[in-house]
Amino acid sequence: MRLTILGGGGFRVPLVYGALLRDRAEGRVTAVVLHDVDAGRLSAVRRVLAEQAAGVPDAPEVTATTDLDEALRGADFVFSAIRVGGLQGRADDERIALAEGVLGQETVGAGGIAYGLRTVPVAVDIARRVARLAPNAWVINFTNPAGLVTEAMSRYLGDRVIGICDSPVGLGRRIARVLGVDPDRAWIDYAGLNHLGWVRGLRVDGRDELPRLLADPGLLASFEEGRLFGAEWLRSLGAVPNEYLHYYYFGRETVRAHQEAEHTRGAFLRDQQARFYEELREPDADALAVWDRTRAEREATYMAENRDSAGAGERDAEDLTGGGYENVALALMRAVARDERTTLILNVRNRSTLAVLDADAVVEVPCLVDANGAHPVAVDPLPGHAAGLVCAVKAVEREVLAAAESGSRATAVKAFALHPLVDSVGVARRLVDGYTAVHPGLAYLK
Ligand code: G6P
Ligand code: MN
Repeated sequence: MRLTILGGGGFRVPLVYGALLRDRAEGRVTAVVLHDVDAGRLSAVRRVLAEQAAGVPDAPEVTATTDLDEALRGADFVFSAIRVGGLQGRADDERIALAEGVLGQETVGAGGIAYGLRTVPVAVDIARRVARLAPNAWVINFTNPAGLVTEAMSRYLGDRVIGICDSPVGLGRRIARVLGVDPDRAWIDYAGLNHLGWVRGLRVDGRDELPRLLADPGLLASFEEGRLFGAEWLRSLGAVPNEYLHYYYFGRETVRAHQEAEHTRGAFLRDQQARFYEELREPDADALAVWDRTRAEREATYMAENRDSAGAGERDAEDLTGGGYENVALALMRAVARDERTTLILNVRNRSTLAVLDADAVVEVPCLVDANGAHPVAVDPLPGHAAGLVCAVKAVEREVLAAAESGSRATAVKAFALHPLVDSVGVARRLVDGYTAVHPGLAYLK
């Protein structure tokens, strides 16, 4: 089986390759094709993969190319993990938004819109090429903002594109852990959009265990989201939100914390990764050790400003080992390729799952996965305030898709202005001016 990874020179590719190396079952991936626009990054990542594969019998063969069409031909699966504009683009997104007093995070608020506006045209081009060159391939989209980008691609690939994120699984596992239940036996009642969802229940043997968690301040203080949102607010909600909802429920505090931080996440990762790729140009660098040290530092500092502003302290040791992102991708690929039925929380077209959205809206919900793809399962309706947020953000995503299709600057302004975390049309206009001035990828907006 052949897997093509777009963004193949990306920092997280060794996580995926490590998961492939652990997979010994029949029908596993035997060939990996890395595609990237930057040959230097490809060779750095290939060095890490070669060290990972050393001593592993039948390790998947790795090839690399900068030719997209060549990479896509013959693919059974395509992982899309690209970053249009690079980490400098992410840092610019954050800086310009924070200067206007709004959030610049790559998936939430103004930053997510800016990143979406320049990523959607590239993702659509990829989707069209896949439809032409590898029509039977399954595309697993990791590219953020993952829900929006998956929806853009689904217009060309239908249900053959599935979006993934590790935060719902991570949240479900953390809740199971503190409740002392086996996560593999628990049904996680999670629903929403990517980075905008809520766990409303966790059922084991037909019994909902979430009320036991919400009633226990000690248990609530013992995991990341409990500390981030606080026991009282979680009890008021009667649910546990995805960590990215911290940007909504504590909007002012998070904007302030990010404004006061020494550097934004994008600027930190830009510099950290520049050092990583630089170090790997050294012929006798220990590539795997350098990568792993860099990865550990990235994990430890994840959402640090949010945790600081909430007084939530350091991340738990169990949350630092990774194992989320690549395992979701591998579990999905296995279920589809080998018809190993499983349930995963994925980004797929809604059909009639969330009654407040139309059938083609990409949502993040539990899905039954088999050789025919990912089938969303029925969930309880979202409560009013969650339904309101989901509808508002989906409306923004639709404006982003419309702006990317038409090239209309006015539509781009509308996308920013309608976002619940952007509080003025004037701000929206200045954001579009600021973003189009720095991003070549937004030159299409007229
Ligand atoms: C989580 C999110 C992903 C994000 C990743 C890395 O897993 O769900 O969407 O890409 O963290 O975040 P970072 O800030 O390190 O790039
Ligand atoms: Mn994510």
